[in-house]
Amino acid sequence: MSQPIDVRAGAATAVDAVLEASVVGSFTRIGPAVRRRLEHWVDPPAVAGRTMVITGATSGLGLAAACALSRRGANLVLVGRDPTRSEQARRTVRAVSTGGRIDVELADLGDLEQVRRLGERLLERLDRLDVLINNAGALLRTYTRAPDGHELTITVHLLAQFALTQGLLPLLEASAPSRVITMTSGGMYTQKFSLGTLVMSEDDYDGTVAYARAKRAQVVLTHELQRRFGPKGVDFHVVHPGWADTPGVHSGLPTFTKVVGPLFRTPEVGADTAVWLAGQPDGEPEGGQLWLDRRPRGLYRLPWTYESEAELTADGEALYEWCKVMTAH
Ligand SMILES: NC(=O)c1ccc[n+]([C@@H]2O[C@H](COP(=O)([O-])OP(=O)(O)OC[C@H]3O[C@@H](n4cnc5c(N)ncnc54)[C@H](OP(=O)(O)O)[C@@H]3O)[C@@H](O)[C@H]2O)c1
Repeated sequence: MSQPIDVRAGAATAVDAVLEASVVGSFTRIGPAVRRRLEHWVDPPAVAGRTMVITGATSGLGLAAACALSRRGANLVLVGRDPTRSEQARRTVRAVSTGGRIDVELADLGDLEQVRRLGERLLERLDRLDVLINNAGALLRTYTRAPDGHELTITVHLLAQFALTQGLLPLLEASAPSRVITMTSGGMYTQKFSLGTLVMSEDDYDGTVAYARAKRAQVVLTHELQRRFGPKGVDFHVVHPGWADTPGVHSGLPTFTKVVGPLFRTPEVGADTAVWLAGQPDGEPEGGQLWLDRRPRGLYRLPWTYESEAELTADGEALYEWCKVMTAH
């Protein structure tokens, strides 16, 4: 009796593998359109009563995720940096909410002092935290220095996320099983991790490379955080959204947008896997994985970026210690 289902699942896996190998088929709206149908995706479950913090909630994927989670009843804290845009986001989310709380917190994640104070405020404000979604980010075409002197790509994508996560760990542990979901990028597949070249100098700065290295570093850090805190009931996931039609992609990659734009996913589809993960049952699925379209994905696509598990662990340890020093945590 189970054979037809097995055959269908096998066919879905085979088609998924072909799509995944093709990059364009996988990352554009073609991927989720085919996978949704073959794998019979159902709406992510209701998350009423779960408390979630989302950074970068004023635009693109973060706003789409906030709307989807609020529609499913989550209590949300939307983190934005601009008061007007943040209030606008709250109104947008409120319009689709089914009744959970929607609070706003302001912090520029390029400023680690503001990140530290954000963490403190959240610890005071929340009595539990089920899901932290580290989503905020931008591809910066010109070299920009953050207030604390670091290059801004690294601050926003890595140091701020590290500092916020570390700051909220006591609450995440107290609320366990809980999870942290970080939005990386398929661009990270182009870069091998190296702590020595992670931070680009003003002289050799290339925004696309700086962004891809920071996104690869998120994957390495997620592996290490899972190793350290997974046993305490906090699971760490990293998601890449494919290519989605957001203001961030338009401003960060204008030429790419002109060429591939017609095939971009909607922000809602780009945010789907993060929303789906946020709603999974307690302790499932296993942490420490990279996801696209509701399936775990390999960490490498290009041979020169490959690391053994032992190398990944060593890099994760070194990166964790480096982030601690850089953020004074
Ligand atoms: N769209 C894609 O195809 C794609 C692909 C791969 C990865 N991603 C990743 O997905 C995440 C969301 O990007 P998106 O495409 O949705 O772009 P987006 O529409 O530009 O949204 C980015 C969000 O991050 C916030 N943000 C940026 N810098 C910040 C800072 N210094 N402090 C606080 N908030 C900050 C923005 O706030 P403001 O509204 O104030 O600007 C905005 O809410 C990013 O991490 C991005 O790298 C996106």
